[in-house]
Amino acid sequence: MSESVRIIEMGPRDGLQNEKTLVSVADRIAFVRALVDAGLTTVEVGAFVSPKAIPQMVGSDEVMRSVAALPGEFHVLVPNVKGYEAAHAAGAKVISVFTAASESFSRANINCSIGESLERFKPVIAHAKTDGIKVRGYVSCALGCPYEGEIKPQAVADVAKALWDLGCYEVSLGDTIGVGTPLKARQMLRAVGGDVPVARLAMHFHDTYGQALANLYAGMEEGVRVIDAAAGGLGGCPFAPGATGNVATEDVVYMLEGMGVRTGVDMAKLLAATNEMSRLLGRPPVSRVAAALNAR
Ligand code: HMG
Ligand code: MG
Repeated sequence: MSESVRIIEMGPRDGLQNEKTLVSVADRIAFVRALVDAGLTTVEVGAFVSPKAIPQMVGSDEVMRSVAALPGEFHVLVPNVKGYEAAHAAGAKVISVFTAASESFSRANINCSIGESLERFKPVIAHAKTDGIKVRGYVSCALGCPYEGEIKPQAVADVAKALWDLGCYEVSLGDTIGVGTPLKARQMLRAVGGDVPVARLAMHFHDTYGQALANLYAGMEEGVRVIDAAAGGLGGCPFAPGATGNVATEDVVYMLEGMGVRTGVDMAKLLAATNEMSRLLGRPPVSRVAAALNAR
């Protein structure tokens, strides 16, 4: 498993979207810059969603514009054509559409059924194609749902295939509430891998039950090579009650480097970016590696 792995840094989007403290646009821009400087060159920087639903992401247009010239690839969430137009106007080159493998979560998160969400994505993806913008797709609740509990691997595969067939270049599978275990992750990835090339899958695992690193390792054994992670283990979703943050980027980098997989991430710089955000939020990072390094 010594080939390279691509890390998609989620801190500025997933990381901040559920925080009680509203982080200023200037501080969000500084956070992105610090992450890029640490070697995290693919960063999800914001979301063009309803400001009523997610006030934390207001100003994503300013963030996008400000970081666009940095050396990296910057992603933003887009739920519909309105969001697409704003993202395009702000200069986004990669957008992510997002749906779920659970009808109840889809309704809570984006106020429509899974089928309706896919219909909404069709014009978004058509515009993106015309404008030369790449589209990534998310499937939430890939390993469990806060409202429905168990989600069948085939249900995840069906939605992942639908996103792939619509033209997404990569499908990120979200353990939104962090309930998965390595066996479940493996079974889900095998089911999805029957419909979408494994090289085009990403793992987006929240760490609520402390299983995310183990699940990622199992996924890597299945051949998946793209990992979504957030600096300091930040993250959560207001429509996923009880969920905690994404797997921490520090923890992922530590594991990968220990396996001989080069990440290109400067841990000291990443830790500094995490610590600065943690100061702004007024609490220590949940990342075990960050805590260990800070204690040295
Ligand atoms: P809706 O209420 O069905 O939409 O919301 P609507 O079209 O009826 O519009 C209602 C209002 O929202 C209108 O404003 C629209 O203009 C506005 P009003 O007339 O009431 O003032 N609106 C928008 N404003 C800005 N940008 C837009 C937009 N669209 C409509 N794009 C909608 C549907 C999807 C917009 C809403 O439910 C929403 O924004 N939800 C937010 C969902 C979200 O961001 N969730 C967190 C991210 S997903 C996640 O965290 C999971 C992930 O990490 C993977 C994982 O962990 O599993 C990706
Ligand atoms: Mg998430």
